[in-house]
Amino acid sequence: MARFAIASTPRRKLALAAALLLAGGAAALAQMMGQGMGQGIGMRRHGAGGMMSHDEATMPGLQGANATPEESAELAVLFRNFATLTRTVTNLPDGIRTVTTSSDPQVMATLVSHVTGMIGRVETGDDPQIRIQSPTLDIFFQRGPGITTDIQVTDQGIVVVQTATDPALVQALQTHAAEVSDMAARGMQAVHEAMMNRAGN
Ligand code: HEM
Repeated sequence: MARFAIASTPRRKLALAAALLLAGGAAALAQMMGQGMGQGIGMRRHGAGGMMSHDEATMPGLQGANATPEESAELAVLFRNFATLTRTVTNLPDGIRTVTTSSDPQVMATLVSHVTGMIGRVETGDDPQIRIQSPTLDIFFQRGPGITTDIQVTDQGIVVVQTATDPALVQALQTHAAEVSDMAARGMQAVHEAMMNRAGN
């Protein structure tokens, strides 16, 4: 079961901030969908300096047999703007505590939407089957109810605490948290390397 809360005080002001954050994300997404996936906010960021491969422009690997275009678009925003992300992970005896934030409010809103949406999918066993997704996620979609999740949006970022009693789930939570850190640090490069390593290249 996931508990979603807005932490710290004054509660009302922060709840409003979170609502604005989410609204900002929706606006960013609407803008991006209106302009096509290649014209999102990250595209402009890249556009200033120049080179972008075909894969980075369209990111076909972010589509999934059971994912919505909005979810794929959110992933594209996170990958294009990974340089704005900061993250810390603490491994707990029975899980993880992560704090992730973006210096860009629109990217932050997208991150909140991604995290809440994906953890919701884990709880209902609803695998999005994103082409590039890590096999580490498989066990989450098989044994999702075994994970206890607490999500809080604070002024430090989105704080996710996930615990389990099943040692295989605890291991997977910690492995996945490290994989997210690598994506936050290195973007699509981290995914490409992980896929190459799995293929034995
Ligand atoms: C730059 C890329 C990405 C970032 C920054 C990111 C960020 C996050 C964060 C912060 C969490 C919460 C758990 C934690 O903090 O460790 C999370 C969970 C999740 N993400 Fe991502 N993510 C990215 C890419 C992806 C991709 C490509 C997928 C493919 C499906 C994905 C699927 C999921 C799923 C299923 C969860 C829930 C896992 C759980 O319950 O622990 N993410 N992501």
